[in-house]
Amino acid sequence: MLSAFLALVAILPAFANAQALYSQCGGTGWSGATTCVSGAVCTVLNPYYSQCLPGTATTTSNPTTTTSNPTTSNSGTTTVSSAPTGTQTPAAGNPFEGHNIWLTPFYAAEVAAAAANITDATTKAAAQSVAQIPTFTWFDTIAKVPDLGTYLANASALGKSSGTPSLVQIIVYDLPDRDCAAAASNGEFSIADNGQANYFNYIDQLVAQIKPFPDVRVVAIIEPDSLANLVTNLSVEKCANAQTTYLACVTYAIQQLNTLGNVYSYLDAGHAGWLGWPANLQPAANLFASLFKSAGSPSFVRGLATDVANYNALSAASPDPITQGNSNYDEIHYINALTPLLTSSGFPAHFIVDQGRSGVQNIRQQWGDWCNVKGAGFGMRPTINTGYTAIDAIVWAKPGGECDGTSNTSSARYDYHCGLSDADQPAPEAGTWFQEYFTTLVQKASPPL
Ligand SMILES: *[C@@H]1O[C@H](CO)[C@@H](O)[C@H](O)[C@H]1NC(C)=O
Ligand SMILES: *[C@@H]1O[C@H](CO)[C@@H](O)[C@H](O)[C@H]1NC(C)=O
Ligand SMILES: *[C@@H]1O[C@H](CO)[C@@H](O)[C@H](O)[C@H]1NC(C)=O
Ligand SMILES: *[C@@H]1O[C@H](CO)[C@@H](O)[C@H](O)[C@H]1NC(C)=O
Repeated sequence: MLSAFLALVAILPAFANAQALYSQCGGTGWSGATTCVSGAVCTVLNPYYSQCLPGTATTTSNPTTTTSNPTTSNSGTTTVSSAPTGTQTPAAGNPFEGHNIWLTPFYAAEVAAAAANITDATTKAAAQSVAQIPTFTWFDTIAKVPDLGTYLANASALGKSSGTPSLVQIIVYDLPDRDCAAAASNGEFSIADNGQANYFNYIDQLVAQIKPFPDVRVVAIIEPDSLANLVTNLSVEKCANAQTTYLACVTYAIQQLNTLGNVYSYLDAGHAGWLGWPANLQPAANLFASLFKSAGSPSFVRGLATDVANYNALSAASPDPITQGNSNYDEIHYINALTPLLTSSGFPAHFIVDQGRSGVQNIRQQWGDWCNVKGAGFGMRPTINTGYTAIDAIVWAKPGGECDGTSNTSSARYDYHCGLSDADQPAPEAGTWFQEYFTTLVQKASPPL
């Protein structure tokens, strides 16, 4: 399916009278073809943009006739009520520059409660200091989306009172059939049960929360693991089934966020031990580039996020033995290997790298072990002085202390990785607080807190 999709994109110019899957097929000012290749239907996303999405047309759609009121468009099309604000130009350079990264009160409260339970005075003080380190907020259910407006209102007020605008870091993470190659992070939406429409609604709600706050800059990591799963895990039935939906949903997310003019997106790109294997680099670059192009090259897509919620070093003193066989044994080797492939295919090669739990190396038995790895410590502090021009920022994407997945074998979301001998146990459900794990992250932090 993936190769078929890429082939379609590649031969697009030969079929100028029928647009390829995920290509534009209508909207205000559009003068190109308004029909889609077989298996795709031209769908009105907003008055300015119609897109060929997987499906079969029930009526002949003619989105270019849609004028001022998109809700009256033909019955064979899907309409989305939020209209974009038009094309805006991103600021030149690193989007983190000139901003204060806003601290999420939710994580600060988790950390404060955790620190209160630590008796050793030195560890307690170190734990308390974590509340001052910015992390990303994961919008992993639609119920959490209204929090974003509250956060942005606070960030906006702080920006105005301090004179330096705020930057709020979010993770867009609610795909239908989420985490298709694992079980611990199964999401709330199912493809079989209206998942794509539910996801589009989730994105519309995020957009509606952000729209009133153009003075706050937002940095968004888009859907951890999703595209990497499409590169390497299509042999998993759930991933193969999810492929067209993931592509349509991620496309919709970056297009809609792009209309706001203050949201800079980084697509998740796995990590060195996943897409960094030499055989995976070119297929990964091809997927990122083809998705980006067919989405209309949204100008606020800034690049890729790597090592999200993982443990790899940015630059390892020496290769961890588990990385044997991969010359790209840390994130900087991975980034340096991927950059020319992205650049030559027209994808913006800028990166942010999660180092939140990468303080201690050589603690895993297999490179693929990702669940609550024992002995991990907080890593490099977030900074824009990264030492590498390709890297916009070192970030803490995973809020350290929030559990990766339960070790309870009876739980519906049990994943065997969370029961491995290098996984800290007993572990509660994914996303809930894991006090003992947090304490270890604090004690083993490198550099120390
Ligand atoms: C702190 O300790 C209290 C009492 O033992 C417990 O109820 C609470 O859940 C603990 N909080 C955390 C974050 O572990
Ligand atoms: C923003 O939130 C913080 C932490 O919740 C609070 O202390 C502060 O008063 C708020 N500031 C504004 C301007 O709303
Ligand atoms: C997904 O792909 C990765 C990388 O090739 C592999 O290590 C992993 O075992 C795969 N997962 C499943 C469930 O097949
Ligand atoms: C493990 O999960 C099962 C099923 O949800 C639950 O009944 C049980 O109480 C859990 N055990 C622990 C130790 O949390």
